[in-house]
Amino acid sequence: MKKRIIAAALAAALCMSFVGCGSKTETAAETDTAASSAVSETKDDAPVKSTQDEASTIDYLALVNKLNPLPDNWEDSIETVHMTNSVGDDVEVEKKAYDAYLALKADLEKEGIYVDLDSARRSVAEQQRIMDDFTKEYGADYAAKTVAKPGYSEHHTGLALDLYLIVDGEDIVLNEDMIQYTDIWAKIHEKLPEYGFILRYLEDKEHITGYGYEPWHIRYIDNTDTAKEITEKGITLEEYLGAAKTTDIAVDLGSSELYTEEELKEMAVQVKCKFAGFGCELISIRYAGDEAATEENLARVNAADDGNNYVKVAEFLTDFHTPKEGTAVFGADEDKKDYTWWLAQDEEGGWQLVDWGY
Ligand code: DAL
Ligand code: ZN
Repeated sequence: MKKRIIAAALAAALCMSFVGCGSKTETAAETDTAASSAVSETKDDAPVKSTQDEASTIDYLALVNKLNPLPDNWEDSIETVHMTNSVGDDVEVEKKAYDAYLALKADLEKEGIYVDLDSARRSVAEQQRIMDDFTKEYGADYAAKTVAKPGYSEHHTGLALDLYLIVDGEDIVLNEDMIQYTDIWAKIHEKLPEYGFILRYLEDKEHITGYGYEPWHIRYIDNTDTAKEITEKGITLEEYLGAAKTTDIAVDLGSSELYTEEELKEMAVQVKCKFAGFGCELISIRYAGDEAATEENLARVNAADDGNNYVKVAEFLTDFHTPKEGTAVFGADEDKKDYTWWLAQDEEGGWQLVDWGY
């Protein structure tokens, strides 16, 4: 998936160092949002193809995430259109989402902000290709944080749209470039609810969505009031639908004479962030107790993470349930108990997740 995924992965990797998982380190580059006469227009703003004549009967609030695949029969109910973007790519979008996107785009242009569609609806085969490419280049761990498993991407719905920016007539399509334009994204995000869109992968919500911050990934929900409510509350679709499993997780920080409650909370968040990429349902998370903070275990985590000199160690345990169809790592529909997580503190005082597994 071009280099879009690279920047998303870098952002996700960066954000893993912070409590709450979200990136707090973005540097806002001053950007010129003035329109340029050389701005590329989409070659085809008009719908050219519909997959069916009748109105869509899809659920515009459908939740597709690491735990919820594309609903059955979605393909039979969706009505889509195709357009060609300014770089010549064909993009397929759910029809109402596309109409709303065109209205949003026109409104943004009044303010001198130009956007185009990089990617919207993707087939399972296309998502698999992206996943394969990315896994090959960056490893499975990295891929899981940035690319949805085929069948589990919101892009399958046709309601998820990845935007790119056109600044001074230049297409800004790479994530590492796009993410610099914080002022432009802020203005775009402000307008989303008015057109029935929400920003899907928020900063600081990686432990719920399972993905890092993606300012370009917007989701059409076909209801401006609901979009406004979600946006004003600063919540994810998971939280709005009451489907954020993290809220039900039993967290037991126990009692420690070595670590403060704040430190233990920070460690638990890091575990949750990492776990979000597993595609399993987290049941409980607990501090294993001060007795695990031995010199032997400290030596072990230092050996596991070459190049670091950790000074303290802590162990957490989780129970979780694997999905019905299993994952690349775990079997189907299994209860997993006492899965272990090792965290270590470096000399500067920061806690890192170093090792996990049985
Ligand atoms: N990058 C988003 C999560 C996807 O692959 O669907
Ligand atoms: Zn996307």
